[in-house]
Amino acid sequence: MEFDENKEREKRKDEHVQLALLDDRLPPSHFDHLTFVHHSLPNIGWSDINLHVVLPDLDLKSPLYINAMTGGSEKTGKINAELAIIAKATGIAMGVGSQHAGLRNESLADTYRIVRRNNPEGTIFANVGADVLLDFALNAIEMLEANALQIHLNAPQELIMPEGERDFTGWLSQIEKIIKHVKIPVIVKEVGFGMSRNTLRLLKEIGVQYVDISGRGGTNFIGIENRRREKQEYDYLRGWGQTTPISLLEAQEYMNDMMIFASGGIRNPLDAVKCLSLGAKAIGLASPILRVLQNEGTERAIEELINWHEQMKTICTMLGARNMEELCAFPLVITGEVREWCEMRGID
Ligand code: FNR
Repeated sequence: MEFDENKEREKRKDEHVQLALLDDRLPPSHFDHLTFVHHSLPNIGWSDINLHVVLPDLDLKSPLYINAMTGGSEKTGKINAELAIIAKATGIAMGVGSQHAGLRNESLADTYRIVRRNNPEGTIFANVGADVLLDFALNAIEMLEANALQIHLNAPQELIMPEGERDFTGWLSQIEKIIKHVKIPVIVKEVGFGMSRNTLRLLKEIGVQYVDISGRGGTNFIGIENRRREKQEYDYLRGWGQTTPISLLEAQEYMNDMMIFASGGIRNPLDAVKCLSLGAKAIGLASPILRVLQNEGTERAIEELINWHEQMKTICTMLGARNMEELCAFPLVITGEVREWCEMRGID
């Protein structure tokens, strides 16, 4: 029985990677409703730009990081090994996918550990669900000698997943327990459904400092899990959740008290800079990196990340923003659906 469960879990991990690479996007993107105002006198040079991010207990050479994706099967272990090489070559931080498979079955732990082996000095995020016991979370950190722990919130995914969880009672108190005991930053993250003011308020009240709002617009786990079902009857729910721009606008009142990271449907360096100007401290990329890695290989993925970082600097130069603090002061014009959302929700 346990053997079957393990096989089932490994199959699921492989399917997630496969299905995430099918184009699941819902155009158009809400990022297109945010526009910078061009300024003709930037008065700085490209070499003045510094995108180094220094946060409490977390030092990031680039605001970009490879977000949590995978591990837990032979194939995905190989993907993790390559992602770690990419992270090492570019000096950016990276997360692994949920470590539950490796924590339950020692023979799969190496599909995660390889990330530390391939990048001994790198910044690595461990990853567990919000239902785990404290010991499990501590073991996940130890498995990777992790620099931060991500706790994912994925209720819609579980509900559409045929074999998924159906009871989400107690997540908040479980997170509270974990953050009280864990000595490294704990990043509470969504998986592509975004967050609301109310979610952020509850997280702040229990002492959460780091959040990745991971919004809708990129990888869509309702779409992915729906495709894994015999009868694909949940397609109509693919628009569920807040997009990344809307989640960042919902987060505005928490920008000074919490470290808010952005991810979900970041298509290009301009989307990334828009997130930074809305106050995000770092930008997570999952499927864009996976896609380049799987289709074009490790070297091209390294090149792609270096290009993103350099092009973000180019955009900062056009804006005349030397660093993250200056970038935050750049107003974006908000139009269309995003503007309507802000008006309806009373967000200035
Ligand atoms: C994910 N994501 C994810 N997140 C998490 O916290 N734990 C996990 O195990 C996984 N697994 C996973 C598998 C695959 C194949 C993908 C593509 C993604 C979610 C990921 O970290 C991120 O929040 C979303 O993918 C949104 O970002 P993108 O893909 O739109 O850049």
